[in-house]
Amino acid sequence: MASSLAPAPPAPAHAPRPLFPRTSPRRGRTTTARAAATAAGAGEWAPGSWRARPARQIPEYPDPAALEAAERALEAFPPLVFAGEARKLEERLGEAAMGRAFLLQGGDCAESFREFSADNIRDTFRLMLQMAVVLTFGGQMPTIKVGRMGGQFAKPRSSPTETRNGITLPSYRGDIINGDAFDEKSRVPDPERLIKAYGQSASTMNLLRGFAHGGFADLQRVTQWNLDFLRHSTQGDRYLELSQRVHDAIGFMVAAGLTPQHPIMTTAELWTSHECLHLSYEQALTREDSITGLYYDCSAHMLWVGERTRQLDGAHVEFLRGISNPLGVKVSDKLDPSELVKLCEILNPHNRPGRLTIITRMGAENMRVKLPHMIRAVRQAGLIVTWVSDPMHGNTISAPCGLKTRPFDAIRAELRAFFDVHEQEGSHPGGVHLEMTGQNVTECIGGAKAVTFDDLGDRYHTHCDPRLNASQSLEMAFAIAERLRNKRNRTWTNLMSRVVA
Ligand code: PEP
Ligand code: CO
Repeated sequence: MASSLAPAPPAPAHAPRPLFPRTSPRRGRTTTARAAATAAGAGEWAPGSWRARPARQIPEYPDPAALEAAERALEAFPPLVFAGEARKLEERLGEAAMGRAFLLQGGDCAESFREFSADNIRDTFRLMLQMAVVLTFGGQMPTIKVGRMGGQFAKPRSSPTETRNGITLPSYRGDIINGDAFDEKSRVPDPERLIKAYGQSASTMNLLRGFAHGGFADLQRVTQWNLDFLRHSTQGDRYLELSQRVHDAIGFMVAAGLTPQHPIMTTAELWTSHECLHLSYEQALTREDSITGLYYDCSAHMLWVGERTRQLDGAHVEFLRGISNPLGVKVSDKLDPSELVKLCEILNPHNRPGRLTIITRMGAENMRVKLPHMIRAVRQAGLIVTWVSDPMHGNTISAPCGLKTRPFDAIRAELRAFFDVHEQEGSHPGGVHLEMTGQNVTECIGGAKAVTFDDLGDRYHTHCDPRLNASQSLEMAFAIAERLRNKRNRTWTNLMSRVVA
């Protein structure tokens, strides 16, 4: 496979290709696919070669013909993103791998059909813009904004069943698979949900593109992005003060000759991402790029494989190794450094910067012990990855009321550990991956405007894991920005001392 950083080969002059040829083979149960199953990451890849491998976390559908019909319908639908966009994101993530940019990846744990509204999308988008201003100001480098949006529907579960009052039903697996109501009918996997998820993702993408390019994200409006309920709050006031400084700096630049109509001033870049879990959906949206001849999963710009499905010889890794989108891998303390190296070699055999993001999620204490070994193993193997911290999934606890929650302080402690370890190892902390919402929910405890165990019941709306609310997210952004500023100052001081010496 040619490196996608190399110039694209010219399109053949004789036979005009369709813009997005169908994926093939559809079912993938071919001899080559079976051969591919012999060794992890070896053999010929096809969009359907994952079907010969064990696939965890994907339920059996009672009506396989209906599932196949849904897959066929999706194959005929337009792509949601374009290969060129995914390549651009890969370049940006390559910058983050080198410490010259910082990734902000965030959004719902699970998008849902019920919570789907323009206001929710706008508020999360606006919160990401605010956080990006804070991070860019602190780090003095670009913030790469990637939403867990427009496709984040399928959820891995620790148990295949759920029991309530003596009744046991299949677990809820995200709106793309089944319903969360606790009754038998809702919990049956329904292929129609694939089509509905695609439709909602398309609308979400459409709105995000509108917000990003239609004037909402104009940097000259930086002071107006504050969310209504954040006004007159500590974090809201902090943001207002900083945004005023940014606004003044822009005023100076414009007076000095910067064109205020330049796209860099008037538009934002926001990419989409989700966990690559439901492989039928992902395969059906995979297209061969007419420019490079490479396959892209056009359901999102970036896809990641979860902690529960990243087995070297599993179906998810098999699918991901053949698509050319930038990829993420969630990693807990349970992963052995040598296995991490193998995973990197399978998913990024050409060692392209930006191709692979390692998203660590293990809790602060584990991180201080385990992450150094992972960093050293990856470095020793000469591999380039973008290191990112997901401080959410290693810090989930049960509140006395039974709801799942996460303490703000534990999340911050894991981020602190992430920055400390990278500082000690001389590697780059490349970004953060958060479950967050622009809504004023009460799902994580703590923060400056403290949410307590008793508050959890007030506005607990998540369809899966607890999210940081807007105020907690901004507070986290300020804490990260401070770390980035310190890092920048240290680098500068080191540089100057070398120059002077
Ligand atoms: C998630 O990101 O929602 C998730 C399930 O993560 P992980 O695979 O790290 O548990
Ligand atoms: Co989650």
